[in-house]
Amino acid sequence: MRTLIHNIGKLCGILPASVRRLEGQDMSLVKCIDDAWLEITDCKISGFGPKESHPELNADEVIDAEGGYVMPTFCDSHTHIVYAGSRDGEFRDKIAGLSYEEIAARGGGILNSADLLHETSEDELFRQSLARVKEIMAKGTGAVEIKSGYGLRTEDELKMLRVIKRLKETVPISIKATFLGAHAVGREYTGNQKGYVDLVCSEMLPRVAGESLADYVDVFCDKGFFTPEDTSRILEVAAKFGLRGKIHANELAVSGGVQVGVSYGALSVDHLERTGEDEIECLKGTETMPVMLPGASFFLGMPYGRAKDFINAGLPVALASDYNPGSSPSGDMRFVMALGCICMRLTPEQSFNACTINTAYAMGVEDRLGSITIGKLASLIITEKLPSLAFIPYSHQTPFIRRVIFSREAHPGTS
Ligand code: NIG
Ligand code: FE
Repeated sequence: MRTLIHNIGKLCGILPASVRRLEGQDMSLVKCIDDAWLEITDCKISGFGPKESHPELNADEVIDAEGGYVMPTFCDSHTHIVYAGSRDGEFRDKIAGLSYEEIAARGGGILNSADLLHETSEDELFRQSLARVKEIMAKGTGAVEIKSGYGLRTEDELKMLRVIKRLKETVPISIKATFLGAHAVGREYTGNQKGYVDLVCSEMLPRVAGESLADYVDVFCDKGFFTPEDTSRILEVAAKFGLRGKIHANELAVSGGVQVGVSYGALSVDHLERTGEDEIECLKGTETMPVMLPGASFFLGMPYGRAKDFINAGLPVALASDYNPGSSPSGDMRFVMALGCICMRLTPEQSFNACTINTAYAMGVEDRLGSITIGKLASLIITEKLPSLAFIPYSHQTPFIRRVIFSREAHPGTS
């Protein structure tokens, strides 16, 4: 099957296949072609170029982009979109002045979501989660990482991961599953954190790996949650099952999470609202992607990650939504891109790269998504005519997405 998209006003986000992520000042460039065409053969990008090199309009399907932009779909490398209900009750406490930690310490927060999830059937959880996945697809997300972590009991963690598996089989976008048993200490283990970490290591991880339900492992390594020592124990066991880390670090305090993540070769360390020079130094020369989540800073009134300092130090930066009921109830990657520019002072080009190729890397799909590259999956956003790339974050609420084309790798048992 051949599809030709012609009359493209600007084709944005072109990269050679050898580029797996963009670092430092390389993040400042988005390569584009004006007045372009793009050809898709069997779900993959098979050619593109300027109008002059236009092929015959003899494809099986011809799409007229009508002068709009064509760009890769967003990759959202950090979400918690499988959850039950919402936490709008706590929203009142939050705006009345209670901090995230205070709400959690009162037994709310993650434990509140875990109670609700426990009472929700797998089918109902799937139904609610599928609606959220469809919502982000309509907003241009073509790949998403989803974490467990609202189970906190073995059976409930497995329930979440089975829902993620069903989502993988159901929707035409790429999904990666991350096991986050160590998101909070489950209620049965209140006052016995060590016992809970034992449960994660000796019961949950073997069951999760035994059913091949996770691609990665995560730990909420932060003040009031899990320590670097807990994190190290979990990463040690996860490595035996071939699971690489994607660590929640430095959201609430300088937690040591970056250092422990890097020392185990984590694919990413995420949040990073509180980082000093040590964290920047520690990330240099590593394969670990720093992922910042400006939606959580916005919603919780926390500092924004020091993305510009990271880039000036030559590091890559990725931006993801953190879509979850407690700290970021939005999976809108155009909003994330806008926060990157407005609140973190990234240029539109840096923010674009942070939400596409660098998040693709942070979820391990950079070989097939995140840029306009021959051989990559044709997962594309087609927009109305836009005045510039800057218009994307500048006018982030304007409904200028005309069409999203999804492609993903085949999943076993699905076509
Ligand atoms: O990434 N910080 C830890 N986990 C989520 C929030 C989870 C929740 O509050 O439900 C986050 O912000
Ligand atoms: Fe998170």
